[in-house]
Amino acid sequence: MDDRITTIVNDSLDAIAGAGDIAGLDAIRVATLGRKGSITLLMKGLGTLDPQARRQAGQALNAAKDDLQSAIDRRRGELERQRLDALLEAERIDVTLPERPAPGGTVHPVSQATDEIIAILADMGFTVAEGPDIEDDWFNFGALNMPEEHPARQEHDTFYLLPAAGGARPVLRTHTSPVQIRHMLDNPPPIRIIAPGRTYRSDSDLTHTPMFHQVEGLVIDRDIHMGHLKGCLRQFVEAFFGVDDVPMRFRPSYFPFTSPSMEVDIGCSFSGNRLTIGEGEGWMEVLGSGMVHPRVLANGGVDPEAWQGFAFGLGIDRLAMLKYAIPDLRGFFDADLRWLRHYGFRPLDVPTLYGGLTP
Ligand code: DAH
Repeated sequence: MDDRITTIVNDSLDAIAGAGDIAGLDAIRVATLGRKGSITLLMKGLGTLDPQARRQAGQALNAAKDDLQSAIDRRRGELERQRLDALLEAERIDVTLPERPAPGGTVHPVSQATDEIIAILADMGFTVAEGPDIEDDWFNFGALNMPEEHPARQEHDTFYLLPAAGGARPVLRTHTSPVQIRHMLDNPPPIRIIAPGRTYRSDSDLTHTPMFHQVEGLVIDRDIHMGHLKGCLRQFVEAFFGVDDVPMRFRPSYFPFTSPSMEVDIGCSFSGNRLTIGEGEGWMEVLGSGMVHPRVLANGGVDPEAWQGFAFGLGIDRLAMLKYAIPDLRGFFDADLRWLRHYGFRPLDVPTLYGGLTP
């Protein structure tokens, strides 16, 4: 009996010392001390021995059990420490590394200007409306009081698309004004919307690109008059350029969809090639506007006897050039990373009236 116990203990101690992981160690424990383990089975057999031998064997078995159990515990401790060391080694964090690098991209000046314009006008009570870039001839021209033969159509250098079967030619919208009609048809007055978006004309030189950006404004209510228009545009221009008491000039003009129509200039000075807004002898045109033509209201399903309003349209690219002192429009669309890094804005610095627009 003693020999058998000694053999089991020695073999098992060797195996325990050689166990490479916890699972292997567990298998040894089960094979010796488990319910059907070799030591356990020997203990169960003690009953068949005479009392003298039983006591001796019992003591030997208990001692063997204790030896094996403490060897297993010790080895388990070693293996767990090794596992933790390996884990710490593998998951090591170098706390001396710099924090997450600053984002490399920048916000395009057109996006920045659009966000600023929306922030200002939203604060004044306007909501943002949208329309499609591919527009029906009717919404882009006809409904805006420009019938087929109207000379103002010529000024728009329109991109025409192929006509649908039997239908009119769709166009790439030449301005954001068609959103006025679409919005009126879907929403009863009072109305107070702006519609920022892309616009297209077949025109390309220093100051024109085939795709550019506009914001349309439309206000319709019972007693809207030109004083509202002027006050609204003044407040907008002063907020956008961050200048109080900007000299403004409302010049009579012509647009088919407004009557009367005005172009708005703001005072500025040029010294060398530096432009300063809000002072000096010069004038810079920034937007077109007017009282909405009764025929346009009617085309939008609004009764011109009961409602009236004003509209305005401004070029975002041009406003961005003026505000951020960007001399050449074509850089906007070159996708030149150096240009974007120079003129772009920090991402996540969303302009708000409370957080601040760009100065
Ligand atoms: N749609 C005009 C353009 O692109 C701009 C414009 C002028 C819009 C006067 C208006 C307005 O709403 O009232 O040239």
